[in-house]
Amino acid sequence: MTLINENYLKLPGSYLFSQIAKKTAAFKEANPQAEVISLGIGDVSRPLVPAVVEAMHRAADEMGRAETFHGYGPEQGYAFLRQAIAQNDYVSCGIDLQADEIFVSDGAKSDVANFQEIFSSSCRIAIQNPVYPVYLDTNVMAGRTGSFVEGLFEGVEYLPCTAENNFVPALPKAKVDLVYLCSPNNPTGTALTYDDLKKWVDWAKANQAVILYDSAYEAFITQPNIVRSIYEIPGAKEVAVEFRSFSKTAGFTGTRCAYTMVPKQLMGYTRQGQAVALHGLWLRRQTTKFNGVPYIVQRGAEAVFSAEGQAQIKENISLYMQNAQVILQALKEAGLQAFGGVNAPYIWLKTPQGMDSWAFFDKLLTQAHIVGTPGVGFGSCGEGFFRLTAFNTPQLTQQAAARIAAMQF
Ligand code: MLT
Repeated sequence: MTLINENYLKLPGSYLFSQIAKKTAAFKEANPQAEVISLGIGDVSRPLVPAVVEAMHRAADEMGRAETFHGYGPEQGYAFLRQAIAQNDYVSCGIDLQADEIFVSDGAKSDVANFQEIFSSSCRIAIQNPVYPVYLDTNVMAGRTGSFVEGLFEGVEYLPCTAENNFVPALPKAKVDLVYLCSPNNPTGTALTYDDLKKWVDWAKANQAVILYDSAYEAFITQPNIVRSIYEIPGAKEVAVEFRSFSKTAGFTGTRCAYTMVPKQLMGYTRQGQAVALHGLWLRRQTTKFNGVPYIVQRGAEAVFSAEGQAQIKENISLYMQNAQVILQALKEAGLQAFGGVNAPYIWLKTPQGMDSWAFFDKLLTQAHIVGTPGVGFGSCGEGFFRLTAFNTPQLTQQAAARIAAMQF
């Protein structure tokens, strides 16, 4: 009898976005004439920019010649890409981060999912509520929680992020070892200021806690008081890992490339209290379980940092942020209250008349043929909310906006 990891049985039926895809497919099959527009999963609609495509073509040619062919690459990523990241994302912003503190990977989703492996299963975690489900589900799988009771996992410190607290999580009351923070936030589309985040860094230092900071959406920030990197806060390198991605920033959702920063002074502890650098543990994990991102993809990612690459991706980002404005305006016209959409490509709306999130999903799909994401899928504090993304094309976003503005709620 082969025993399974029973922690998996604690998880609700299926992953949120798989559940939505299934419901959408069933609706399309029953209504083949309906022109369904997706403002659901945060997947980009703009193709890879020319600078990236050209770099990938050149890299593909190199791979076809014996003299320039590349087999296994370094597990941590090629130095040319890690140097480009260090220089452009950090050093040029006054943050002293070395290229060898950067780990290139196939996605921020995999990294935020896998990073918990290097911590003890006895660590207590805190997550924002609502939350990107990957942080929580992977800790459930690892056995760091109890059972799912009335919408919450036992043993987890939930940090409510609601309109009442401006979506800024309060510091935990109980003892916590690991905290997941996401800013600009998925799903609420709101973002933390320098002062908000400084409180967290100071708290983590005082409590020997580690912050897992997901900043996959930093390129969408438009306001000056919003933090782009947690390392802008003094002392953050001693307490925080930062995750970033080319997915939304440069259209790599299908190409796959991301990066995680693990500063060398960031420590965890043995039971005897001996400090151990997390950098070394993560390096050991990656070299054992991961063989790196394809050379062609890394050359494409490097080109994101070229002058042309930057100009081209910024054009796409601003187009998505214009979509966000279009959606916000339509929601206003429909009389709905909405948050986010200014420093992030997500809009978080309050469902009308206390309608629950899934009922609103059904209403939007059946009456307007629009797919969104029910807030409750991100946690109990998401009940009564609904997420729309700004990642569709301007044309389809405008069509969707017109349909929403014309709806009766
Ligand atoms: C989302 O819609 O929340 C994202 O696309 C999910 C992800 O980045 O994995």
